[in-house]
Amino acid sequence: MRIAVFAGDGIGPEVTHEAVRVLEALDLPGLELVEGDVGAAAWRKHGHPLPPETLDIARSAGAILFGAVGDFECDNLERHLRPEQAILGLRKELTLFANLRPARVFEGLEDLTSLKPEVARTIDLLIVRELNGDVYFGEKGMRTLPDGRREGYDLMSYAEDEVRRISHVGFRAAMGSRKKLCSVDKANVLETSQLWRDVVLEVAKEYPEVELSHMYVDNAAMQLVKNPGQFDVIVTGNIFGDILSDLASMCVGSIGLLASASLGEGTFGLYEPIHGSAPDIAGKGLANPMATILSAAMMLRHSFAREADARRIEDAVAKALADGVKGGDLGGNAGTREIGDAVLERL
Ligand code: IPM
Ligand code: MG
Repeated sequence: MRIAVFAGDGIGPEVTHEAVRVLEALDLPGLELVEGDVGAAAWRKHGHPLPPETLDIARSAGAILFGAVGDFECDNLERHLRPEQAILGLRKELTLFANLRPARVFEGLEDLTSLKPEVARTIDLLIVRELNGDVYFGEKGMRTLPDGRREGYDLMSYAEDEVRRISHVGFRAAMGSRKKLCSVDKANVLETSQLWRDVVLEVAKEYPEVELSHMYVDNAAMQLVKNPGQFDVIVTGNIFGDILSDLASMCVGSIGLLASASLGEGTFGLYEPIHGSAPDIAGKGLANPMATILSAAMMLRHSFAREADARRIEDAVAKALADGVKGGDLGGNAGTREIGDAVLERL
């Protein structure tokens, strides 16, 4: 059980530290943790946000625990040197194309969500976001038009095999859940989305038990706030999934609670909180480490087939929350370390 720990920038090291303490407390057979540099931290040390050493460590491990990347000081660097390239590069280089972002409301937090408590209580959904394609990875650049105006461009595209493999992930997740899949696109405007929809419909033939629906992304944003209980599994492209998963996090109370898994075809995966590096509170011991701790649980489940340990962590987090252990993101005053301790006590 060799785990690469890439803490990154901002609050990344603090929250990752707590998740590591939880993993170490579990008495996992053969647990080995190897640290590597990513993001602005790696750029300062090695001149690149994702140095070859880090990729080597990733390839030698069974899974990656990832903190966060991002640093205002890097905003003016050339794009390929910016911290975000570390996470985008790992996803792409390791063909981690399927991002699972579960969202459900924890008991005791119903009053903290941005929704009415009775609406929030119904949320139990999974966003399956494609991670290797879309406008994120298309040709991009800046050019000057003949009349002298500057133009920025990013090409959106999906090849059918990319849509097919993420569709299968979506359908399989639905099979393991309430057998409802909603594919989110913008097929009324985008050709990329028309192909997406066509391929999802083809793949659907292999999953006759799954009730499939299609929704335009603007409507999906509205429905997630209006009636989130209607969703079981949502499958969508890279950019729509990025936006909708932040939206879903506010529906459940805090972005400090949402974990994610990025998977390829095998058991190897990258696990990270969906929040960013939060430079404003970095180094102050204020960040909520729960999303990272929950990401470690997802790692035990998906990469190491240790469902019971994953549940132990999730139950400990749920119990801490139910007991009123809340970070600043939830209107409480528990610090990073204190939250880590609270989860450890309840393991
Ligand atoms: C996420 C983040 C990343 C993304 C950034 C940091 C590149 O927002 O994981 O949702 O856009 O995918
Ligand atoms: Mg995002």
